[in-house]
Amino acid sequence: MTTNPKTDSKTSLEAYWMPFTANRQFKQAPRMLARAEGMYFWTPEGRKILDGIAGLWCVNAGHASPKVVQAIQAQAAEMDFAPPFNMGHPKAFELAERLVEILPAGMNKVFYTNSGSESVETALKMAIAYHRARGEGSRTRLIGRERGYHGVNFGGISVGGIVANRKMFGTLLAGVDHIRHTHDLARNAYSRGVPEHGAEFADDLERLVALHDASTIAAVIVEPVAGSTGVLLPPKGYLERLRAICDKHGILLIFDEVITGFGRLGSPFAATHFGVTPDLMTVAKGLSNGAVPMGAVFAKQHIHDTFMNGPDHLIEFFHGYTYSAHPLACAAALATLDTYAEADLLTRGAKMAPYFEDALHALKGLPHVIDIRNIGLVGGVELAPMQGQPGKRAFDVFLKCWERGVLIRTTGDTIALSPPLIIEQSHIDEIVGTIADVLKHAA
Ligand SMILES: Cc1ncc(COP(=O)(O)O)c(C=O)c1O
Repeated sequence: MTTNPKTDSKTSLEAYWMPFTANRQFKQAPRMLARAEGMYFWTPEGRKILDGIAGLWCVNAGHASPKVVQAIQAQAAEMDFAPPFNMGHPKAFELAERLVEILPAGMNKVFYTNSGSESVETALKMAIAYHRARGEGSRTRLIGRERGYHGVNFGGISVGGIVANRKMFGTLLAGVDHIRHTHDLARNAYSRGVPEHGAEFADDLERLVALHDASTIAAVIVEPVAGSTGVLLPPKGYLERLRAICDKHGILLIFDEVITGFGRLGSPFAATHFGVTPDLMTVAKGLSNGAVPMGAVFAKQHIHDTFMNGPDHLIEFFHGYTYSAHPLACAAALATLDTYAEADLLTRGAKMAPYFEDALHALKGLPHVIDIRNIGLVGGVELAPMQGQPGKRAFDVFLKCWERGVLIRTTGDTIALSPPLIIEQSHIDEIVGTIADVLKHAA
């Protein structure tokens, strides 16, 4: 039971089966959030919590960003919903045009979804259908990467490479394979920015081409920087090499930019940061500042055009969601883009990155720390696992930080930081200082 802040009545916690949560642990000692603004959450009791993870890698412009709030309120009153199939509304088109302006050259088509997971399913389907539409229907195989995270739907967990997310769910999609991950602690521990060693891990794609033949492979999907598996950065030259191998074999390259999109690395997208343009890109989260669920797939012109055949009155791509281009989401995303532009938030991460990097790397030498990784405003601090209890050490650190008023996230035994892009140096000091204090006393 907990106190309902609105009614002061007692609300049972039993009915809600919480996602990606240790439900029993949570319900014994709930961590409730009631309000948010800027860099902070507040608990129902009024305790202030500094947000070190932008909610969940999504509130890039900070919480309750005024323009976004106003846009959602106004849109709800003006038009709550409009059907997206065979109908349109102006903000959906305006948003697509605005997005194309900040996308890498050549990516100029936008397909709306409601989440990162849906963006991934959409991109995978687009890739297979694209090859079929251009007469190479044998290209159905999808290649992911070990330790990849691409959401939780069947396509996403099939190409994903996190064992816990896959093992309970049967045989998954057929015809999927994985290249090896890029984590190499032995050679790259404590790298600042992208690690020096490992471009050759991209050659693992050649192994799969030799095994399956390129004529069966539709696409490769990777996160340019992997977040959910513990902040894994691409080795220097790796993404370029992957791009070259895909080009050589006619395989589409999909970047899952659900967390790297919209300024996280200090550039609008990872593709712009690394100068490597994929054929398809998936986004969500920062697209609407997390304020209304929204995702999208960005496609190169020729992929879109391949579908544009047959009679004019017929649907070209049999795919879409009731809430694709939802008016509230479009309004929120337009206001989000305005806010990003006004405060230079899509590049602010690059300015803050050196301070963030120095602060994080000062944790080196504290108990249990075995690696520190960073890029833009993404940080990873890997801890040695407790004997026989993987994940427990980092989870304990998460709980202690929460008690001290700082929200961090942990995945396995890695602390993952992704603060709002409005962060100031004092916030960095507080987040990293709190983690340092907790680590000094960690079991
Ligand atoms: C790289 C990546 N892809 C996909 C997703 C799934 O997004 P969602 O939870 O909105 O479905 C996430 C979520 O964190 C992600 O990090």
